[in-house]
Amino acid sequence: MASKLLSSGHYMPLLGLGTWQAAPGDAEKAVLAALEAGYRHIDTATVYKNEKEVGNAIQSWLKCGAGRREELFVTTKLPHIGNRPNDVKIYCTKSLQSLQLEYLDLYLVHMPFTFKPDDTGEAPAKHNDGTFVLEETDHKEIWNEMESLVKSGLVRSIGVSNFNSKQLERLLSFAEIQPAVLQVELHVALQQPELQQLCRNSCVTLTAYSPLGSPGSKDHFKNKYGRNDFDFPDILNDPRVIEIAERLKRTPAQVLLKFLVQQEIAVIPKSVNPQRIIENSQIFDFELPQEDIERLQSLDRGPKGRIVNFLFFKGVECHAEYPFVSELQQ
Ligand code: A2P
Repeated sequence: MASKLLSSGHYMPLLGLGTWQAAPGDAEKAVLAALEAGYRHIDTATVYKNEKEVGNAIQSWLKCGAGRREELFVTTKLPHIGNRPNDVKIYCTKSLQSLQLEYLDLYLVHMPFTFKPDDTGEAPAKHNDGTFVLEETDHKEIWNEMESLVKSGLVRSIGVSNFNSKQLERLLSFAEIQPAVLQVELHVALQQPELQQLCRNSCVTLTAYSPLGSPGSKDHFKNKYGRNDFDFPDILNDPRVIEIAERLKRTPAQVLLKFLVQQEIAVIPKSVNPQRIIENSQIFDFELPQEDIERLQSLDRGPKGRIVNFLFFKGVECHAEYPFVSELQQ
């Protein structure tokens, strides 16, 4: 499976299994199915609440002798309630324990903004009106601690997620260890060409989450946050994607993933379905012709294509580091 050399000097497989919205029981089976199907890159996060099950699957796979730890690339993320310098190592250590690993391949600052934890310390605190309690975020101080994780050997590469161009540029200006990866929502309906260019110019590798347009998000946001006011792009059923897939004898999912991978953007499609996990991995034995790349480029809807704008966190748009303020004004 193709890999990309990161600025940290480590290789990251261009295809990983995403586990956002994978319930703990499903996540364990999905990770095992993915490892058996040849995936070597697994993406999770503290806020997904499935690190333990992801770790169980990795341990089962290692114990049965199918492969070695060094072959795997495991990513997890510092949660929004841990976005302060003193908490970075604490949350990283907790994740390592849950994942039952001695080191992480990649640790990401999950979100550029910070919520105060509630009394359980596990979830964000809320005001009486349901809005989240916001806290100031000092990216520079947090990044210093992320760099310490690399120096102490707990983590091999570090990066950020959901940062906008401005936030990334600022981070690049003071980082001693440059961010190796930026993980953001990226798919044909939200291509973010300027952000892509900034990453290319700065040797930051992009990882695309929701590369299939996250068809599970409508139900997820409705069930978890009671929100029902979304107009998401249905890219898997876009007639132009289907036309390309039929002509190339591939599936729409394979076309959408290949579109990104062919541009050296890593993808982490989420699936808990073993057949779809295999389907999503069969993207390295064909190329999209340039005309099809151009057709797919024309499906960009700009900010209107965004699915994950975090407004399901009530009040987040008031945070000084909320990344999509300018989009809300459009
Ligand atoms: P499931 O987990 O039941 O397979 P994204 O990675 O863009 O967030 O998309 C994940 C969503 O897409 C999940 O709801 C997942 O459902 C579904 N999915 C994953 N792979 C495929 C595929 N090859 N074809 C259609 N739907 C898919």
